[in-house]
Amino acid sequence: MATPRSTAHARIALGRRDIRRFEVDAPGTQAQERALLTRVGCSDAGIRYVPCDFATRSWYAELLAAGFESAVPACIVWEGVTMYLPPAVVEGTVRQVAALAPGSLIGFDCMDEGWVFSPAMQRFTRRGGEPWLFDLKAGTEEAFVRRHGLRCLDNLRCDALMSRYVPRTVTGQSVGACIDFGCFVLAGR
Ligand SMILES: C[S@@+](CC[C@H](N)C(=O)[O-])C[C@H]1O[C@@H](n2cnc3c(N)ncnc32)[C@H](O)[C@@H]1O
Repeated sequence: MATPRSTAHARIALGRRDIRRFEVDAPGTQAQERALLTRVGCSDAGIRYVPCDFATRSWYAELLAAGFESAVPACIVWEGVTMYLPPAVVEGTVRQVAALAPGSLIGFDCMDEGWVFSPAMQRFTRRGGEPWLFDLKAGTEEAFVRRHGLRCLDNLRCDALMSRYVPRTVTGQSVGACIDFGCFVLAGR
């Protein structure tokens, strides 16, 4: 994948034939998603599926086995996942991205400290069988990625996400809403 000129507004050129696309997810979720896509007749041509439990296996090893080229820069979209993983797994993932080809990027969201381990959220997420395990103190995200070998290129909280990505009506009202959950971080090496 070509290195984007402006990382802050990076777009993935999905139509390009020289870009390999991999989807790495927990085996159960991925199987359900694939079955659903088939059922609704939605094409997933060109996507290489890589089932992997991040907590117990190396996603990088699984990607290599699926044809990932380590010399080519990668853009990793890791949205809605960090909170389900032990801190050591999130840290290890950032360090692994820091060892990818120059120009590689990862975008991930993370919850603010205070949310994840509140008794209410712990009760709620444990009851659903997917306990939340990872958070960061607000404002420490940049230091977190730096500590594990990456540079923070962007760190978007709710207001910035809303103004950048959620359109407004002609009368100026936002068509969406975002709770102040934490932030979305874009980091690269
Ligand atoms: C809230 S969903 C987010 C899905 C999607 N990325 C999105 O933003 O809409 C959480 C995702 O994390 C994945 N996940 C949670 N724990 C995981 C693990 N240990 N290994 C791999 N994937 C995991 C789930 O399978 C699911 O796809």
